[in-house]
This record gives sequence, C-alpha cells and structure tokens, in this order.
Amino acid sequence: MIKTKKHHCALFDLDGVLVDTAKYHFLAWKKIAAEFDYELTEADNEQLKGVSRSDSLKIILSLAKKTLDEVTFESFLHQKNNDYLNLIQEVTPSDLLVGVKRTLDFLKKSKIKIGLGSASKNALIILDKLQITSYFETIVDGNAVQNGKPHPEVFLKGSKALNVAPEDCVVFEDSQAGIIAAKAGGMTAIALGRPESFSKMDYCFPDFEALDNEKLQILFN
Ligand code: BG6
Ligand code: MG
Repeated sequence: MIKTKKHHCALFDLDGVLVDTAKYHFLAWKKIAAEFDYELTEADNEQLKGVSRSDSLKIILSLAKKTLDEVTFESFLHQKNNDYLNLIQEVTPSDLLVGVKRTLDFLKKSKIKIGLGSASKNALIILDKLQITSYFETIVDGNAVQNGKPHPEVFLKGSKALNVAPEDCVVFEDSQAGIIAAKAGGMTAIALGRPESFSKMDYCFPDFEALDNEKLQILFN
C-alpha cells in the first residue's frame, strides 16, 4: 500500500517507460559493440539505460577496452543513431506500453501537470509517432540539457518549466540512472520494472497496469 503526500506533477522518462524503445537502443549498441569484438550483454545494457548517447559509447568502449579518436567516436555515434532511427521507423500508437494511455488520461482529467524528462535527442519524433505529444506541457529532452542522468538537470528543468516544486513531482523511470537523478532532484521516484534492478527508489511497480487509478489517486491530487 502506498503512503505518501499528494503530488501535483508527473514527469515521465520516455524509453522503457512510455514505449519499449529500450530494446532498439540495445540492438543498435550491440551492433556497434560487435565492431569492437565485444558481445554486449543484457546485464551490460542495464548500465546504458537512461544514459546519454555519448556516455553510452564511452561505457561500451571501456567494457571493450578500446579507445577511439574524436572523429571516429563521432562517426560511431552517428552510425548508432542511424541504425536506431531505422529500427524505430515502424513505431505506432499500438507500441505504447500497457497502462500508459490510461495513466496519461487519468492525470489529464485530474489536472495534474505532465512533463517529459528524457535523455534522448529523438524524443519528439517518438512522441509524435505514439501520438501523445499533446499530453505534455513541457518536454525536456537530450537536446535541452548539459548534464545527463544521473544528474538531476533534466527533471529539475521540467519541474521549473511547470512551476511545481521538486518535492511535489513524481518521476516515472525504468533506469537506475534516472532513479538517482530523480532522488538527487528531491522528487518522488517510481521505478518501473523488477525491484532487483533498482535501489533508492520510493516505489517499484512492474508496469503501469499494476499502478491502477486507485493508486494514482493516492499519489496525486
Ligand atoms: C535514453 C535511453 O532514454 O536516451 C538510452 O534510455 C539512450 O538508452 C538515451 O542512450 C539517448 O538517446 P538518443 O535517442 O539521443 O540516442
Ligand atoms: Mg528509460
């Protein structure tokens, strides 16, 4: 049972929270890692979730024990993004994760402010493909921040844009980097996924189906 104060704002991560694009990031990185003769595992991938594109490549290079000059580094970032954009081409509203649409509708009806806090520079394209852009009063993405998660900048910018104090915000995340970012920002952090993948979260649910309207009502007013 949730015991909490009432919050006035919901900040959503995108990849792995609203839509399962996390699997496409993984596939695209696996292909890059193979070029360094490194087989990227699901466990490695947990370290990449929520982390910016260039920080992800740095992590992969350190796993593969490789170094690259700046120009080659940039060309791999470019290649990864091209592969990723190809993989997400067919994303449609049917790819919204279970319970997401009902959650957004509930929050909108309850007049809770809704924002996006994503590390992705492709966030706008994906929100449009999912046809949910209009739910978001503010969209803070990878183009808008200097510091990636686990730094709290992306969520603090969101709460500021919505004019809501951090302690009145709930953050929904599927990555440990994002949970740390939310807590560092002074927000309530809800992890979506398996509890053993996270630490420091306030609550954990397998998905939005488990976070039904009755529970949302307890979290928000
Ligand atoms: C995050 C993903 O949402 O965005 C990461 O969890 C990804 O896996 C990051 O690296 C940056 O995304 P993009 O689309 O700018 O490469
Ligand atoms: Mg995510």
